[in-house]
Amino acid sequence: MTRLPAQVRVLFVCLGNICRSPTAEGVMRALVRREGLSERIELDSAGTGAWHLGSQPDARASQAARARGVTLEGRARQVRVDDFNYFDVLLAMDRQNLRELRRLAPSEGLRVKVRLLREFDPVSARSGELDVPDPYYGAGGGFEEVFELVRAACEGLLAQIRNGFPARPQP
Ligand code: 4NP
Repeated sequence: MTRLPAQVRVLFVCLGNICRSPTAEGVMRALVRREGLSERIELDSAGTGAWHLGSQPDARASQAARARGVTLEGRARQVRVDDFNYFDVLLAMDRQNLRELRRLAPSEGLRVKVRLLREFDPVSARSGELDVPDPYYGAGGGFEEVFELVRAACEGLLAQIRNGFPARPQP
């Protein structure tokens, strides 16, 4: 018996909403579609910063995703206060995004919806390495590494959603 809630709304959040969070949204959308759960799991992404409002995903992120069978969609937008009410969980790509989201949360009760995406990858969780490195200026393993880190985390996230995450408050 599945424990999947009636509907789950997930928001992926990075700094610019053109590299990491659109990649996470695209990867998760592909997983959810493959599992026939598109009606049950609503996905979106946003940035804590406003530099790229209205922009399409970064061409390098789109290329890395396309090479792995995933199409990135959407236009960059900034996180808004109402996101904390609407979404069941807000998943930060790194600790800087996490801090910013916690600061923006309108109440203590809504702040608990904010988590790090890589917490959902059991291997990452065990290692304690929970940031998806910012690839924009070419540091780290770049866009390919971002894709693989995000894919592992999204698979873990989907498994947890199937298992009843996030738990609804008891009436
Ligand atoms: P993202 O990457 O947060 O993964 O979308 C970035 C995009 C743009 C900038 C920084 C990070 N920027 O400084 O403009």
